[in-house]
Amino acid sequence: MSIAAVDLPRRPSPRLLSRVQSAMDKDGAVALARLFPPALLSALRAEVLRRHRSGELRRRGLVRDIAGRYTAVLPFSGPFLDERLYAQPRLLAVLGALLGADFRIGSLEAVIALPGAYEQHLHADGPLRFDRVLGRRARGFAGDLSRLPPYAVTLCVPLCDISEENGPTALYPGSHRAALRAKVPNEARLKRQFKAQAVTGPLGDCFLFDYRLFHCGLPNFSREPRPILMLVFTRAWFRDPNLADVHPGLVIARKDLAKVPARRRPLFALAPAARRALWD
Ligand SMILES: [Fe+2]
Repeated sequence: MSIAAVDLPRRPSPRLLSRVQSAMDKDGAVALARLFPPALLSALRAEVLRRHRSGELRRRGLVRDIAGRYTAVLPFSGPFLDERLYAQPRLLAVLGALLGADFRIGSLEAVIALPGAYEQHLHADGPLRFDRVLGRRARGFAGDLSRLPPYAVTLCVPLCDISEENGPTALYPGSHRAALRAKVPNEARLKRQFKAQAVTGPLGDCFLFDYRLFHCGLPNFSREPRPILMLVFTRAWFRDPNLADVHPGLVIARKDLAKVPARRRPLFALAPAARRALWD
């Protein structure tokens, strides 16, 4: 099974948006080609590689070693402040179709798969759990949550060509339906039940995936680091469990937030710089 690929026009029609909704309902992922201008991708790539080569990115890593790759929160500064990255009208239209009108940027991260990175364990980034404890046992919610619409989605933006050789992400289309079961299936069972798709393509291809979708990074057999961006959008109430022990999870300096057009500032409401202090 391969995920649907959508070429978004400047103003996607309700019909096209409903196609995206259906693809996300069915597979939990959709490929979006040519979303970003090449010059912007080059600037983002140069900035991420500069921070990687200086060692700063790994030092400030969120997780410093996941099977030979690391992930780091990036500040919204320099080229990341470009509205075409996080607020293109056609991207916002897709996000509205998935997350409702009131969504936020949850985080911006880089994932660098170093040469020699090996296959990552299969995981979902943020399953929503409704466990309750009776005595010593936690019990999951036994009802059917599989039809819930997304509460968080990640836009994955590779900053290089991605081939089978240099560490593509393997998605398991349809597996988001399994993530909210009372008992989450184990890795062996998920691999039996769902078929992996390695997402490859030239620089400029990106994909959107549901926070419940099972996925993993594949080995990087090349000699170059493989940088990708993960831009997470969430419903206003969702808090990413992966950022629970770091502060801030969404980084933008006050002076940079002031450069964000007023109509886009609500997207940054989860950043400390956007919040009103009630007590000094
Ligand atoms: Fe992940």
